[in-house]
Amino acid sequence: MSKTVLVPGGAGYIGSHVTVELIQAGYDVVIADNMSNCDETNYRGVCAIVGRELPLYKADFCDPEAVRKVFAENRIDAVIHFAAFKAVGESVEDPLKYYGNNLQSFVNLLEAARAQGGCNVLFSSSATVYGEPESMPVTEQSPRQVATSPYGNTKQICEDILSDCVRAYPGIRGIALRYFNPVGAHPSALIGELPRGVPNNLVPFITQTAIGKREVLRIFGNDYPTPDGTCLRDFIDIVDLAKAHVCAVRRMLDDQMKAPYEIFNIGTGTPVSVRELVDTFERVNGVKLNWVYAPRREGDVTAIWADPSLAWRELGWKAERKLDDTLASAWAWEKHLAEKE
Ligand code: UFG
Repeated sequence: MSKTVLVPGGAGYIGSHVTVELIQAGYDVVIADNMSNCDETNYRGVCAIVGRELPLYKADFCDPEAVRKVFAENRIDAVIHFAAFKAVGESVEDPLKYYGNNLQSFVNLLEAARAQGGCNVLFSSSATVYGEPESMPVTEQSPRQVATSPYGNTKQICEDILSDCVRAYPGIRGIALRYFNPVGAHPSALIGELPRGVPNNLVPFITQTAIGKREVLRIFGNDYPTPDGTCLRDFIDIVDLAKAHVCAVRRMLDDQMKAPYEIFNIGTGTPVSVRELVDTFERVNGVKLNWVYAPRREGDVTAIWADPSLAWRELGWKAERKLDDTLASAWAWEKHLAEKE
Protein backbone atom coordinates (compact mmCIF):
# COMPACT_ATOMS: atom_id res chain seq x y z
CA MET A 1 0.00 0.00 0.00
CA SER A 2 1.37 3.38 -0.89
CA LYS A 3 2.38 5.75 1.86
CA THR A 4 0.77 9.13 2.42
CA VAL A 5 2.74 12.34 2.85
CA LEU A 6 1.06 15.44 4.24
CA VAL A 7 2.40 18.67 2.77
CA PRO A 8 1.31 21.79 4.68
CA GLY A 9 2.21 24.74 2.46
CA GLY A 10 1.91 22.47 -0.58
CA ALA A 11 0.43 25.21 -2.77
CA GLY A 12 3.55 27.36 -2.43
CA TYR A 13 6.77 27.49 -4.42
CA ILE A 14 8.78 24.69 -2.84
CA GLY A 15 5.78 22.68 -1.64
CA SER A 16 4.28 22.41 -5.12
CA HIS A 17 7.51 21.12 -6.67
CA VAL A 18 7.95 18.63 -3.83
CA THR A 19 4.37 17.41 -4.28
CA VAL A 20 5.00 16.66 -7.96
CA GLU A 21 8.17 14.67 -7.20
CA LEU A 22 6.47 12.73 -4.39
CA ILE A 23 3.55 11.76 -6.64
CA GLN A 24 5.93 10.76 -9.42
CA ALA A 25 7.85 8.61 -6.92
CA GLY A 26 4.64 6.74 -6.05
CA TYR A 27 3.55 8.44 -2.82
CA ASP A 28 0.08 9.73 -2.07
CA VAL A 29 0.04 13.40 -1.10
CA VAL A 30 -2.43 15.40 0.94
CA ILE A 31 -1.90 19.14 0.54
CA ALA A 32 -2.87 21.61 3.23
CA ASP A 33 -2.54 25.34 2.71
CA ASN A 34 -4.26 28.39 4.13
CA MET A 35 -3.57 30.17 0.80
CA SER A 36 -2.39 33.22 2.77
CA ASN A 37 0.68 33.73 0.63
CA CYS A 38 -0.44 32.24 -2.69
CA ASP A 39 -3.40 31.68 -4.98
CA GLU A 40 -4.35 28.38 -6.63
CA THR A 41 -1.99 28.76 -9.59
CA ASN A 42 0.60 26.29 -8.33
CA TYR A 43 -2.00 23.88 -6.98
CA ARG A 44 -3.70 23.84 -10.40
CA GLY A 45 -0.31 23.42 -12.08
CA VAL A 46 0.55 20.44 -9.86
CA CYS A 47 -2.76 18.74 -10.70
CA ALA A 48 -2.14 19.36 -14.42
CA ILE A 49 1.38 17.87 -14.23
CA VAL A 50 0.34 14.74 -12.31
CA GLY A 51 -2.90 14.37 -14.28
CA ARG A 52 -5.37 14.27 -11.42
CA GLU A 53 -6.96 16.30 -8.67
CA LEU A 54 -5.10 16.08 -5.39
CA PRO A 55 -6.72 16.47 -1.99
CA LEU A 56 -6.37 20.06 -0.79
CA TYR A 57 -7.33 21.16 2.70
CA LYS A 58 -7.72 24.92 2.88
CA ALA A 59 -6.58 24.86 6.47
CA ASP A 60 -4.58 27.14 8.70
CA PHE A 61 -2.14 25.03 10.71
CA CYS A 62 -2.08 27.69 13.41
CA ASP A 63 -5.51 26.31 14.31
CA PRO A 64 -4.92 23.04 16.22
CA GLU A 65 -8.44 21.84 15.39
CA ALA A 66 -7.73 22.15 11.65
CA VAL A 67 -4.55 20.09 12.01
CA ARG A 68 -6.34 17.42 14.07
CA LYS A 69 -9.01 17.16 11.38
CA VAL A 70 -6.44 16.49 8.64
CA PHE A 71 -4.76 13.81 10.77
CA ALA A 72 -8.12 12.26 11.73
CA GLU A 73 -9.26 11.96 8.12
CA ASN A 74 -6.00 10.57 6.68
CA ARG A 75 -3.39 8.03 7.67
CA ILE A 76 -0.33 10.25 7.58
CA ASP A 77 3.00 8.39 7.29
CA ALA A 78 5.18 11.47 6.87
CA VAL A 79 4.77 15.21 6.91
CA ILE A 80 6.85 17.94 5.27
CA HIS A 81 6.35 21.32 6.86
CA PHE A 82 6.34 24.27 4.44
CA ALA A 83 3.62 26.36 6.05
CA ALA A 84 5.78 29.30 7.05
CA PHE A 85 6.42 32.93 6.15
CA LYS A 86 9.81 33.63 4.57
CA ALA A 87 10.45 37.33 4.03
CA VAL A 88 13.51 38.35 6.05
CA GLY A 89 12.76 42.11 6.04
CA GLU A 90 9.11 41.69 6.96
CA SER A 91 10.11 39.46 9.88
CA VAL A 92 12.23 42.30 11.28
CA GLU A 93 9.30 44.72 11.03
CA ASP A 94 6.68 42.31 12.37
CA PRO A 95 8.41 39.62 14.46
CA LEU A 96 5.21 38.41 16.13
CA LYS A 97 3.73 37.55 12.76
CA TYR A 98 6.72 35.24 12.22
CA TYR A 99 7.02 33.76 15.69
CA GLY A 100 3.24 33.35 15.87
CA ASN A 101 2.78 31.65 12.52
CA ASN A 102 6.00 29.73 11.91
CA LEU A 103 6.29 28.30 15.42
CA GLN A 104 2.62 27.73 16.21
CA SER A 105 1.90 25.81 13.02
CA PHE A 106 4.90 23.56 13.63
CA VAL A 107 3.98 22.90 17.26
CA ASN A 108 0.41 22.04 16.25
CA LEU A 109 1.68 19.66 13.64
CA LEU A 110 4.00 17.90 16.08
CA GLU A 111 1.19 17.72 18.61
CA ALA A 112 -1.01 15.92 16.08
CA ALA A 113 1.89 13.65 15.11
CA ARG A 114 2.43 12.73 18.76
CA ALA A 115 -1.30 12.15 19.31
CA GLN A 116 -1.42 9.59 16.51
CA GLY A 117 1.48 7.73 18.12
CA GLY A 118 4.28 9.14 15.99
CA CYS A 119 5.17 10.29 12.51
CA ASN A 120 8.11 11.03 10.24
CA VAL A 121 8.62 14.79 10.17
CA LEU A 122 10.65 16.65 7.60
CA PHE A 123 11.41 20.29 8.35
CA SER A 124 12.42 22.81 5.71
CA SER A 125 15.30 24.69 7.24
CA SER A 126 17.71 27.13 5.68
CA ALA A 127 21.38 27.93 5.24
CA THR A 128 20.51 31.11 7.10
CA VAL A 129 21.19 29.15 10.32
CA TYR A 130 24.93 29.32 9.49
CA GLY A 131 24.95 33.14 9.40
CA GLU A 132 28.25 34.48 8.05
CA PRO A 133 30.32 31.27 8.10
CA GLU A 134 33.95 31.32 9.18
CA SER A 135 35.07 28.74 6.64
CA MET A 136 33.66 27.43 3.42
CA PRO A 137 32.02 25.27 2.27
CA VAL A 138 29.71 24.78 5.23
CA THR A 139 29.11 21.29 6.52
CA GLU A 140 26.30 20.21 8.81
CA GLN A 141 28.88 20.46 11.63
CA SER A 142 29.60 24.12 10.94
CA PRO A 143 28.36 26.11 13.92
CA ARG A 144 25.01 27.84 13.80
CA GLN A 145 25.30 31.58 14.39
CA VAL A 146 23.02 33.88 16.31
CA ALA A 147 20.16 34.63 13.92
CA THR A 148 20.09 38.13 12.44
CA SER A 149 16.34 38.15 11.78
CA PRO A 150 13.21 36.72 13.41
CA TYR A 151 12.72 34.68 10.23
CA GLY A 152 16.15 33.09 10.67
CA ASN A 153 15.45 32.60 14.34
CA THR A 154 12.25 30.66 13.59
CA LYS A 155 14.31 28.27 11.46
CA GLN A 156 16.71 27.65 14.35
CA ILE A 157 13.94 27.33 16.93
CA CYS A 158 11.98 24.89 14.75
CA GLU A 159 15.11 22.76 14.30
CA ASP A 160 15.46 22.69 18.10
CA ILE A 161 11.78 21.92 18.64
CA LEU A 162 12.04 18.98 16.27
CA SER A 163 15.20 17.66 17.87
CA ASP A 164 13.63 17.95 21.37
CA CYS A 165 10.43 16.20 20.27
CA VAL A 166 12.34 13.37 18.64
CA ARG A 167 14.19 12.85 21.91
CA ALA A 168 11.07 13.00 24.04
CA TYR A 169 8.41 11.20 22.00
CA PRO A 170 9.16 7.74 20.68
CA GLY A 171 7.67 7.36 17.24
CA ILE A 172 8.53 10.85 16.08
CA ARG A 173 11.52 10.94 13.78
CA GLY A 174 12.85 14.04 12.12
CA ILE A 175 15.00 15.30 9.29
CA ALA A 176 15.88 18.95 8.73
CA LEU A 177 16.97 19.94 5.24
CA ARG A 178 18.99 23.14 5.13
CA TYR A 179 18.36 24.71 1.75
CA PHE A 180 20.78 27.08 0.13
CA ASN A 181 19.25 29.38 -2.54
CA PRO A 182 16.37 27.60 -4.32
CA VAL A 183 15.81 28.94 -7.85
CA GLY A 184 14.13 28.06 -11.14
CA ALA A 185 10.87 26.40 -12.05
CA HIS A 186 9.47 23.08 -13.20
CA PRO A 187 10.42 22.21 -16.82
CA SER A 188 6.70 22.16 -17.72
CA ALA A 189 6.52 25.89 -16.78
CA LEU A 190 3.23 25.06 -15.02
CA ILE A 191 4.54 25.74 -11.50
CA GLY A 192 7.09 28.21 -10.17
CA GLU A 193 7.78 31.04 -7.79
CA LEU A 194 4.96 33.57 -7.38
CA PRO A 195 6.22 36.43 -5.23
CA ARG A 196 3.61 38.82 -3.90
CA GLY A 197 4.47 42.45 -4.64
CA VAL A 198 8.09 43.41 -5.21
CA PRO A 199 10.30 40.31 -5.05
CA ASN A 200 13.02 40.18 -2.40
CA ASN A 201 14.93 37.34 -3.99
CA LEU A 202 17.31 37.68 -6.88
CA VAL A 203 15.92 35.36 -9.57
CA PRO A 204 12.29 36.53 -9.47
CA PHE A 205 13.58 40.10 -9.56
CA ILE A 206 15.66 39.23 -12.62
CA THR A 207 12.77 37.59 -14.48
CA GLN A 208 10.39 40.43 -13.64
CA THR A 209 12.95 42.95 -14.91
CA ALA A 210 13.41 40.94 -18.10
CA ILE A 211 9.65 40.84 -18.74
CA GLY A 212 9.31 44.59 -18.06
CA LYS A 213 7.48 44.47 -14.72
CA ARG A 214 10.48 46.08 -12.97
CA GLU A 215 12.49 48.86 -14.48
CA VAL A 216 15.93 48.04 -13.19
CA LEU A 217 17.64 45.25 -11.30
CA ARG A 218 19.95 46.51 -8.57
CA ILE A 219 22.94 44.32 -7.81
CA PHE A 220 23.49 44.95 -4.12
CA GLY A 221 27.20 45.60 -3.61
CA ASN A 222 30.22 45.16 -5.90
CA ASP A 223 32.84 45.82 -3.25
CA TYR A 224 32.71 42.49 -1.44
CA PRO A 225 35.98 40.55 -1.03
CA THR A 226 35.03 38.10 -3.80
CA PRO A 227 36.49 37.60 -7.31
CA ASP A 228 34.08 40.05 -9.01
CA GLY A 229 33.07 42.02 -5.92
CA THR A 230 29.49 40.65 -5.77
CA CYS A 231 28.16 38.14 -3.23
CA LEU A 232 28.61 34.39 -3.68
CA ARG A 233 25.68 32.00 -3.27
CA ASP A 234 24.85 28.36 -3.87
CA PHE A 235 21.87 28.41 -6.26
CA ILE A 236 20.07 25.09 -6.07
CA ASP A 237 17.58 24.11 -8.75
CA ILE A 238 14.04 23.75 -7.40
CA VAL A 239 13.44 20.33 -9.00
CA ASP A 240 16.73 19.01 -7.64
CA LEU A 241 15.76 20.41 -4.25
CA ALA A 242 12.35 18.76 -4.47
CA LYS A 243 13.98 15.41 -5.25
CA ALA A 244 16.05 15.69 -2.06
CA HIS A 245 12.75 15.61 -0.13
CA VAL A 246 11.74 12.36 -1.83
CA CYS A 247 15.09 10.83 -0.81
CA ALA A 248 14.64 12.03 2.77
CA VAL A 249 11.05 10.75 2.98
CA ARG A 250 12.15 7.39 1.60
CA ARG A 251 14.95 7.21 4.16
CA MET A 252 12.50 7.78 6.99
CA LEU A 253 9.82 5.42 5.71
CA ASP A 254 12.30 2.66 4.86
CA ASP A 255 13.89 2.82 8.34
CA GLN A 256 17.25 3.85 6.94
CA MET A 257 17.96 6.66 9.41
CA LYS A 258 21.16 6.42 11.44
CA ALA A 259 19.77 8.61 14.21
CA PRO A 260 16.22 9.68 15.00
CA TYR A 261 17.05 13.28 14.07
CA GLU A 262 19.25 14.10 11.10
CA ILE A 263 20.30 17.24 9.25
CA PHE A 264 21.39 17.58 5.62
CA ASN A 265 22.66 20.50 3.55
CA ILE A 266 20.87 20.76 0.23
CA GLY A 267 22.99 22.74 -2.20
CA THR A 268 25.16 22.26 -5.27
CA GLY A 269 28.53 22.81 -3.61
CA THR A 270 29.44 25.38 -6.28
CA PRO A 271 29.55 29.09 -5.49
CA VAL A 272 28.19 31.44 -8.16
CA SER A 273 28.41 35.21 -7.89
CA VAL A 274 25.39 37.46 -8.28
CA ARG A 275 27.04 39.05 -11.33
CA GLU A 276 27.75 35.64 -12.84
CA LEU A 277 24.13 34.65 -12.34
CA VAL A 278 22.93 37.81 -14.10
CA ASP A 279 25.35 37.26 -17.00
CA THR A 280 24.31 33.61 -17.30
CA PHE A 281 20.64 34.55 -17.36
CA GLU A 282 21.26 37.01 -20.20
CA ARG A 283 23.35 34.55 -22.22
CA VAL A 284 21.10 31.52 -21.82
CA ASN A 285 17.88 33.35 -22.55
CA GLY A 286 19.20 35.84 -25.10
CA VAL A 287 17.79 38.80 -23.19
CA LYS A 288 19.42 42.06 -22.15
CA LEU A 289 18.77 42.98 -18.56
CA ASN A 290 18.68 46.54 -17.34
CA TRP A 291 20.87 46.31 -14.24
CA VAL A 292 23.01 48.66 -12.13
CA TYR A 293 25.37 48.27 -9.20
CA ALA A 294 23.81 49.58 -5.99
CA PRO A 295 24.98 49.80 -2.36
CA ARG A 296 25.14 46.66 -0.26
CA ARG A 297 21.86 45.35 1.18
CA GLU A 298 21.81 45.27 4.95
CA GLY A 299 22.08 41.80 6.44
CA ASP A 300 23.57 40.06 3.38
CA VAL A 301 26.42 37.64 4.02
CA THR A 302 29.41 37.89 1.67
CA ALA A 303 29.58 34.27 0.64
CA ILE A 304 27.99 30.97 1.50
CA TRP A 305 27.93 27.63 -0.23
CA ALA A 306 27.28 24.07 0.83
CA ASP A 307 29.31 20.98 1.31
CA PRO A 308 26.53 18.64 0.10
CA SER A 309 28.58 15.44 0.43
CA LEU A 310 26.63 14.09 3.41
CA ALA A 311 23.40 14.21 1.38
CA TRP A 312 25.16 12.28 -1.37
CA ARG A 313 26.56 9.64 0.98
CA GLU A 314 23.44 9.17 3.08
CA LEU A 315 20.52 10.16 0.85
CA GLY A 316 22.04 9.26 -2.50
CA TRP A 317 21.08 12.76 -3.62
CA LYS A 318 23.04 15.34 -5.53
CA ALA A 319 22.19 18.37 -7.64
CA GLU A 320 21.99 17.50 -11.31
CA ARG A 321 20.35 20.24 -13.32
CA LYS A 322 22.72 22.70 -14.99
CA LEU A 323 22.45 26.36 -13.98
CA ASP A 324 21.78 27.22 -17.65
CA ASP A 325 18.69 24.98 -17.66
CA THR A 326 17.54 26.27 -14.29
CA LEU A 327 17.69 29.88 -15.48
CA ALA A 328 15.96 28.97 -18.74
CA SER A 329 13.16 27.39 -16.68
CA ALA A 330 12.83 30.52 -14.54
CA TRP A 331 12.41 32.61 -17.69
CA ALA A 332 9.94 30.15 -19.26
CA TRP A 333 7.84 30.37 -16.09
CA GLU A 334 7.82 34.19 -16.12
CA LYS A 335 6.74 34.14 -19.77
CA HIS A 336 4.03 31.57 -18.99
CA LEU A 337 2.67 33.93 -16.31
CA ALA A 338 2.75 36.87 -18.72
CA GLU A 339 0.76 34.90 -21.31
CA LYS A 340 -1.89 34.10 -18.71
CA GLU A 341 -2.37 37.76 -17.74
N1 UFG B 1 20.35 40.46 -4.75
C1 UFG B 1 20.57 41.56 -5.57
N2 UFG B 1 19.49 42.23 -6.05
C2 UFG B 1 18.21 41.87 -5.76
C3 UFG B 1 17.98 40.75 -4.92
C4 UFG B 1 19.09 40.07 -4.42
O1 UFG B 1 21.71 41.93 -5.84
O2 UFG B 1 17.28 42.53 -6.22
C5 UFG B 1 21.50 39.74 -4.23
C6 UFG B 1 21.56 39.74 -2.72
O3 UFG B 1 22.21 40.91 -2.28
C7 UFG B 1 22.33 38.46 -2.44
C8 UFG B 1 21.93 37.53 -3.58
O4 UFG B 1 21.40 38.38 -4.60
O5 UFG B 1 23.69 38.71 -2.51
C9 UFG B 1 20.88 36.52 -3.20
O6 UFG B 1 19.81 37.21 -2.59
P1 UFG B 1 18.41 36.52 -2.30
O7 UFG B 1 17.54 37.54 -1.62
O8 UFG B 1 17.88 35.88 -3.53
O9 UFG B 1 18.79 35.35 -1.33
P2 UFG B 1 19.55 35.42 0.08
O10 UFG B 1 20.85 34.73 -0.11
O11 UFG B 1 19.55 36.76 0.69
O12 UFG B 1 18.49 34.61 0.88
C10 UFG B 1 18.72 33.40 1.37
C11 UFG B 1 17.40 32.63 1.50
C12 UFG B 1 16.61 33.14 2.65
C13 UFG B 1 17.48 33.31 3.87
C14 UFG B 1 18.61 34.25 3.56
C15 UFG B 1 19.45 34.55 4.78
O13 UFG B 1 16.61 32.72 0.31
O14 UFG B 1 15.60 32.18 2.94
O15 UFG B 1 19.38 33.63 2.57
O16 UFG B 1 20.39 35.51 4.50
F1 UFG B 1 16.83 33.82 4.91
